[in-house]
Amino acid sequence: MREVWKGSPLLAPVAPVLVSCGSMERPNLITVGWVGIVSTQPPRLSISIRPERYSYGLICESGEFAVNLPTRALTRAVDWCGVKSGREVDKFAALGLHALEGSAISAPLLAESPAAMECRVFERIPLGSHDLFLADILAVNLESSLLDEKGKLRLERAGLLAYAHGEYYTLGKRVGSFGCSVRKRRPGRTSPKAPAGGRKKGPGNSRNRP
Ligand SMILES: Cc1cc2nc3c(=O)[nH]c(=O)nc-3n(C[C@H](O)[C@H](O)[C@H](O)COP(=O)(O)O)c2cc1C
Repeated sequence: MREVWKGSPLLAPVAPVLVSCGSMERPNLITVGWVGIVSTQPPRLSISIRPERYSYGLICESGEFAVNLPTRALTRAVDWCGVKSGREVDKFAALGLHALEGSAISAPLLAESPAAMECRVFERIPLGSHDLFLADILAVNLESSLLDEKGKLRLERAGLLAYAHGEYYTLGKRVGSFGCSVRKRRPGRTSPKAPAGGRKKGPGNSRNRP
């Protein structure tokens, strides 16, 4: 048996990102669940924001914002910045958070987030309850503790947060990696490993990634 409901935004899990906006002097944070990558080359993303949000005006005005990835330690901040408005309260000061200067934008970054994307809006599309902001990702700002000795990004070290149907979660166990469905198993191995001498052309190559 299955049930059919009327259309609603059920997509889950999503990243409940902390979007920082405004200026270094008057920074603000808004929690955004309606966020997505829309192009890899050039790197672009979208965020959807209701026009009544205080952050909406700030982003329209400057055309800049940063998408800060949330961690388990930021759970309370993620929720609080999603229920309080910067119109009434300085969220950075109230939560003891710190604004960090970006390299490509004048909007602030959130120092407590280990990974942030600095974005500049190139289009705003009114869609209904929300306006969609399409933005170029101009720079990525990473805490060096997320990089291993070879400089490879180890995002699993961040303890990222997910949001699904009104609840916050940490990520569970890794259960696969890109291309694992087509990688050949070596005899005696229980989990598939890449062939020696690098990966062959196929779905494991970056051009096949989303
Ligand atoms: C988990 C979560 C996700 C949210 N996602 C969005 C969103 O995608 N777009 C939006 O306009 N508001 C979203 N909100 C609500 C805003 O974050 C909230 O209204 C906030 O207080 C606005 O802050 P501001 O007035 O300082 O801009 C979300 C709230 C939570 C808790």
